[in-house]
Amino acid sequence: MIKTWHLGDSRQSMVLASFDGRLPEVVYWGPALPDGESHQAIATASAADVSGGMVDRNAAVSLNPEASQTFPGHCGLSVRDKNGTPLAPAFRFQTETASEHCLTLVFADNALDLTLTFNLALEAKSSLFKLQSSLESADEIIVEWLAAPVLPVPAHADEMIEFSGRWCAEFLTRRVPFAPGARVRDNRTGRTDHAHFPGLIVCSQGTGNTSGEAYAFHYSWSGGHKMVAEELQDGRRHVQFGHASGSLPVGRTFRTAPLYATYSENGLNGAATRFQKHARNLVADGARSPRPVHYNCWEAVYFDHKLDELRSIASQAADLGAERFVLDDGWFGRRDDDTTSLGDWVIDLRKYPDGLTPLIEHVKSLGMEFGIWFEPEMINEDSDLYRSHPEWVLGPADQIRGRHQLVLDMSRQDVRSYLYEHIASVLKHHDVGYIKWDHNRVLPVVDASQTEGTYALIDRLRSDFPQVEIESCASGGGRIDFGILERTQRVWLSDSNDALERQRIQHDAALFLPACVTGSHVGPRKCHTSGRVLDIKLRSWTAAQRHMGFEMDPRELTEQEAATLRMVTGWWKANRDWMMQADILRLDSSDPAIIAEQQLAADGSRFVAFAAQMRPSDQVLPHPLRLTDLDPNAIYKITLINQDEAPALSRGAPLLKEHDLEVSGQYLMSHGLTLPWRFPETIWVLEGRRL
Ligand code: DGJ
Repeated sequence: MIKTWHLGDSRQSMVLASFDGRLPEVVYWGPALPDGESHQAIATASAADVSGGMVDRNAAVSLNPEASQTFPGHCGLSVRDKNGTPLAPAFRFQTETASEHCLTLVFADNALDLTLTFNLALEAKSSLFKLQSSLESADEIIVEWLAAPVLPVPAHADEMIEFSGRWCAEFLTRRVPFAPGARVRDNRTGRTDHAHFPGLIVCSQGTGNTSGEAYAFHYSWSGGHKMVAEELQDGRRHVQFGHASGSLPVGRTFRTAPLYATYSENGLNGAATRFQKHARNLVADGARSPRPVHYNCWEAVYFDHKLDELRSIASQAADLGAERFVLDDGWFGRRDDDTTSLGDWVIDLRKYPDGLTPLIEHVKSLGMEFGIWFEPEMINEDSDLYRSHPEWVLGPADQIRGRHQLVLDMSRQDVRSYLYEHIASVLKHHDVGYIKWDHNRVLPVVDASQTEGTYALIDRLRSDFPQVEIESCASGGGRIDFGILERTQRVWLSDSNDALERQRIQHDAALFLPACVTGSHVGPRKCHTSGRVLDIKLRSWTAAQRHMGFEMDPRELTEQEAATLRMVTGWWKANRDWMMQADILRLDSSDPAIIAEQQLAADGSRFVAFAAQMRPSDQVLPHPLRLTDLDPNAIYKITLINQDEAPALSRGAPLLKEHDLEVSGQYLMSHGLTLPWRFPETIWVLEGRRL
């Protein structure tokens, strides 16, 4: 007996089948199948042969591959009874609940009193599958591994794009070929982390940004994930995501985070734009619109807060176009450096004798909103909080410190109440519109309840102070995922304000993140994290590609630099309404020295393209820049808006250097734009309008 189910829309179909009541398996996932296709036929057609050296029936790559089925690879569940004896459940069909885009399938092992439930949905707005598994047990059990619904990937998709990274180099991508055996990533840092963005894209060698097939995954969890991408010895491949190993406490109910997955036949952009859209939808209700231009004082003053200086900096930031002033680390306890005071969330009266109100009033008089920094989950030993509650610390006493700090045990109600009271008190007594929520070290132990505790605290604050936006920061981009984006409205992508590094990080993060959530600031002339000196034009345009802000000491700006920054900020404000809703389309540049993208308005009527010359090209003449996703039959008017930046060494007369261009979308996508020559470490900015 075969039961089948289908989830899909005009872009993709997923067909599931359960044979003789066993766990369901995905028997098809790819381009949308025609109406009327028989799912029974697809299920029977998928049965593979059996040959020498094999058991007599292929164990299914089911939504949770089972040891009891002799599965020849990494199983979807690893479970023991409370005495440590391994269990090998054999689940059988119980119930189903189905609506157009949602499916709940319940399977049980009655002998072991275990129930495994799959919640499967297609998010209609974004065309992402949202997949979750949960396990219930009558008795307490130890769950070492519970995979979110396991998906097969086809043999012709023979490569995966993986994510790694480090501080100041988030979202590093690497193409890795599939090979027999398992590729396992197990992030036991207790946070999403710079090195472990929980994503994977399975594609073919030929898949680029604008063409080819891609199967993309994102595990929506901030507590560290495990991923398994395995090729079995019989050639079948599958992908598993779940919480990091060892992070689930003994219990009776277990639930994975949602795994988001999508199939694209339009290259990486086809998947990226769906993740971007989903993230835009997540923050739509909670985020200020239009997105305000930030000023953050961290790289201007660090811990050295002086009221008069901050007032003067705020005035200059407002004059440059800032609309939100964020007071970073250093305003509380006796926080003169990073060795002290985390946990003591009371205003430092040495620095602010009359409290924060005089600064806030000044900021507001300039027409800006006031934002403030917290690092709630952390504690310094040199703090009043530690002196009164050393028992609130997570992990062993002799653990290695990180940035001189320890971590609070967020699973404790008393810890969460303390933090709520102190943060709420600042919010109640001051006109604060924004929190930058930091998290500057990895955890000493991996425990899902830490993340659940943090989520609960943020949810409570958001519910009581819905007008206060929150930015997720963790030494830059150490906590970026859809789990945190369900409750925050911006991410601090990286502590690197080096515009060249930012070009690369922003480009790769756009595989998942839209502009409206991605903070990007114009940093100091000489970058504090790379030591590199970059021109204000590149720095300004790079920040203008995302949610724009400034983070330098404005007193260092020359008049000319200030004028450039003002001009670009004005341009960003004039365009942000449509740009913050636009799809970011990564362009396939034939010149590896160029990083380029096109931001296309939701109605397709306009776009802006950015082409950064990261280093000198090997060839003399710029390769034409091919655009994407335009109407081939429409005529577009193209303007090179910073044409005055062509250097004297650009001696010829390419049209765009002096004139606008009117050509078809077909020409722009097939031939591409012929741009003037320019120096490395500079950027062209092009506006396009459909006529
Ligand atoms: C790390 C963050 O990434 C920085 O932007 C800044 O807020 C510092 N922490 C403050 O300690």
